[in-house]
Amino acid sequence: AVLLESIVGAGGVLVPPDGYMTGVRSLCDKYGVLLILDEVMVGFGRTGKFYGFQHFEGVIPDIVTSAKGLTGSFLPLAMVGVRQKIKDHFWKNPVGWGATYHAHPVALACAYETVKYFMKEDVIGNVQKMEPIMMEELNKIVAKYKCVRQGRAVGLFGCLDLMDRSGRLVQKLGEPMTPEVQKLRKAMRDEGLFALFRPPLLHCAPPLIINEEELRDGFRRLDKALDVLEKEQDKMA
Ligand SMILES: Cc1ncc(COP(=O)(O)O)c(C=O)c1O
Repeated sequence: AVLLESIVGAGGVLVPPDGYMTGVRSLCDKYGVLLILDEVMVGFGRTGKFYGFQHFEGVIPDIVTSAKGLTGSFLPLAMVGVRQKIKDHFWKNPVGWGATYHAHPVALACAYETVKYFMKEDVIGNVQKMEPIMMEELNKIVAKYKCVRQGRAVGLFGCLDLMDRSGRLVQKLGEPMTPEVQKLRKAMRDEGLFALFRPPLLHCAPPLIINEEELRDGFRRLDKALDVLEKEQDKMA
């Protein structure tokens, strides 16, 4: 099997190039390989489509996993969706494995209500409406700060790449935060911003029900926090 995220999440919101996912699907079909798509981060509307893979023409996985947005993350629940023939196989050949909280009724009720709300309130429509604002705000930050190399977003899933004054990324992914990056993190917290922050990647993934005013307010706070990193880098230059 091939296991992928349709849009890479924690790796920095990376949308594959045109034709890539369609090509993967065709190769899997040609060689009888199962395509498993991990939609934990990019499922349930995050990218402006119900599933991330819906951005790619004709790409339907054989197995899909998802979680997070399934319950709005109010209760822990993950899901696996499979094509009929895979379901039939496991129906006849159960794996004899279970989990303590498998199909927990309270979590399932939460998912049911979340998905109903999602459809009724057109949450995906809101994500699509907010995407241009997200792009505009990210672009303003990229234009303003030397410490930001570039930014990108799909739906309400955005990311900024932080860099130092020599034009390199501010640090390697997974390495301990440098003192100036720690100051940025503190400034973000002081501004009330809680983000997936794995420098050099600064993710922007606000709630899918956010409105324009709240989104712009979030970026104003991020702007103030980034000013702290910019000034730290000025001192070091
Ligand atoms: C892309 C992706 N896959 C899988 C997981 C793990 O999901 P869970 O916490 O539901 O096991 C995560 C968690 O953040 C994730 O981002």
